[in-house]
Amino acid sequence: MTTTGEPQQLTYSEYLKVPELLQQQTCLADPAAHDELQFIIVHQVYELWFKLLRHETAEIHCQMRSGSDTDLRNAIRLCRRVEAIFKVLVGQIHVLESMRPADFLKFRSALNPASGFQSVQFREVETAFGLCDEQLASFTKNDPRHEDLLKAMQEESISDSLYQVLRDRGLGVTSPGKQRTPEQDEETMAALKLVYDSPDKYPMVYDLCEALVDIDEQLILWRRHHVMMVERQIGDKPGTGKGTTGKLDGIRYLQTTLMRRAFPDLWSVRTLLSD
Ligand code: HEM
Repeated sequence: MTTTGEPQQLTYSEYLKVPELLQQQTCLADPAAHDELQFIIVHQVYELWFKLLRHETAEIHCQMRSGSDTDLRNAIRLCRRVEAIFKVLVGQIHVLESMRPADFLKFRSALNPASGFQSVQFREVETAFGLCDEQLASFTKNDPRHEDLLKAMQEESISDSLYQVLRDRGLGVTSPGKQRTPEQDEETMAALKLVYDSPDKYPMVYDLCEALVDIDEQLILWRRHHVMMVERQIGDKPGTGKGTTGKLDGIRYLQTTLMRRAFPDLWSVRTLLSD
């Protein structure tokens, strides 16, 4: 209630919990380093976007599982949103590129041995698309969300649902690559070739496949842009996650991730098309 007895109206700040949000940035460097606040905020904003990506990918998955034309249209619409978020994520790397390597070194040791490599939400987003790696997941075991990640890895992914959508439309006995026999492999690629040969005959499936390729492309662009930015900042030095990333770390590890594809069949099918 206000002093005049009227009900208190919700404010912008209360709705968005702005005071709480602004309390969450704790710089650790001693002496203080100007660029640390920028570094923390950029990472926190990434984590917020990852939270939204988890929310959106869960809904996309739900719509794809249902599989009706209306739901697939909604899944495609939300894929466009996910693609737009990824474009923001790629663009955000430029903020870090404005940091001089010498300025990063003024606070880098303060965050050691923490690394983006330990971001559980990033792994959850990868997992939603079917990019599960139990070894990578094991490096997040000290995080409170670790068990949720392991659980998500046992569940169906958007990649699994894509094959269900194809099966529901009579397009071959299809499933993600790792579970296929050579015969199923051939059958699956033949089914996808049908879709890509005649996009107008399978417009919904084709649009869904391409919306997923657009997302995969953005994820790949993020990885590439991140590794370039990392090289600009630390060259070939070990990453702060050294010792947690296995045999490789730093840019040598990151370079091994550049070939990861959430939907490898959707990339391969192009090679099969003839004129
Ligand atoms: C100056 C800024 C940054 C540097 C120097 C940096 C450095 C690195 C390095 C060296 C790795 C490999 C693991 C290691 O050796 O520690 C890594 C992995 C990673 N970083 Fe960054 N990073 C930076 C900013 C970011 C930002 C803003 C994010 C956003 C959340 C991020 C997310 C990740 C993720 C998700 C991985 C794991 C990638 C994978 O396994 O595919 N990094 N980073």
